[in-house]
Amino acid sequence: MPLVSMNEFLPKAKANKFAVGQFNMNNLEFAQAIVDAAIEEQSPFIYGVSEGALKYMGIEFTVALAEAAAKKSGLPIALHLDHGSSFEVAMKCIRAGFSSVMFDGSHYTLEENIRLTKEVVRAAREMGVSVEGELGTIGGVEDDISVDEEHASLAKPEEAIRFYEETGVDCLAIAVGTAHGMYKGEVKIRYDIIEEVTSKIPVPVVLHGGSGVPDEAIRKSIAAGVGKINVNTENQVACTNAIRKVLSSNDTVYDPRKYLTPARDAMVAVVREKIRLFGSNNQA
Ligand code: 13P
Repeated sequence: MPLVSMNEFLPKAKANKFAVGQFNMNNLEFAQAIVDAAIEEQSPFIYGVSEGALKYMGIEFTVALAEAAAKKSGLPIALHLDHGSSFEVAMKCIRAGFSSVMFDGSHYTLEENIRLTKEVVRAAREMGVSVEGELGTIGGVEDDISVDEEHASLAKPEEAIRFYEETGVDCLAIAVGTAHGMYKGEVKIRYDIIEEVTSKIPVPVVLHGGSGVPDEAIRKSIAAGVGKINVNTENQVACTNAIRKVLSSNDTVYDPRKYLTPARDAMVAVVREKIRLFGSNNQA
């Protein structure tokens, strides 16, 4: 099966109240772990690739890994640019074979964000590629982008509705209280904002910063209208902890496969659990 746009599964997620996971891909082991868990669970999923990860892996390897996963699994998989910063980056990814892109114009004024997102939607739609937009500022650290809690600002429902109506994005990330990275304190999600927005637009809301959010809060977010949830840090932590465990207990290890195999297994366990929690198992 070729890579698909998010429209292959997001409308069903919204209608049947489940969420599809965006699991970020950072290297070969991430790509393998994510697809292996999804095969076990027969779940659609999204490979999220940030600009930093793209630089690390190279665009050709990134697309080849995702295409190999789609071919091997037969599952509906979208390859999605995470937090794309410009029209040019989005187009570069689409030309290389991405089936979905996010344009993150959240740091622009609302007018400018709408104008720029519209341009991406117009170009992407012609090629059957789905688009995610963002409104409000999500706190935390991702790649080289750091937003402290003080500067994270929640999305305003009326602006989110207008943003959807004018841009026609396929899903909409709105800041509702989550942050990238693990949480130091308690996460307070504004379910009322999610509900107000999703009751007035036909596409699902995206929850960024899915790592470390308690299961009950995830369930409530999905019930309120979240249809896509992004997870990266939890896999990074599982991967690194497994490697650390092997290396700290045995200093004669030099074959990377000896520590990357347990790292990959640890990520399979994380993704499998998230897929079940999100309710996307057996929805492929
Ligand atoms: P976490 O790293 O907190 O899981 O967030 C991932 C994310 O939102 C990617 O856009």
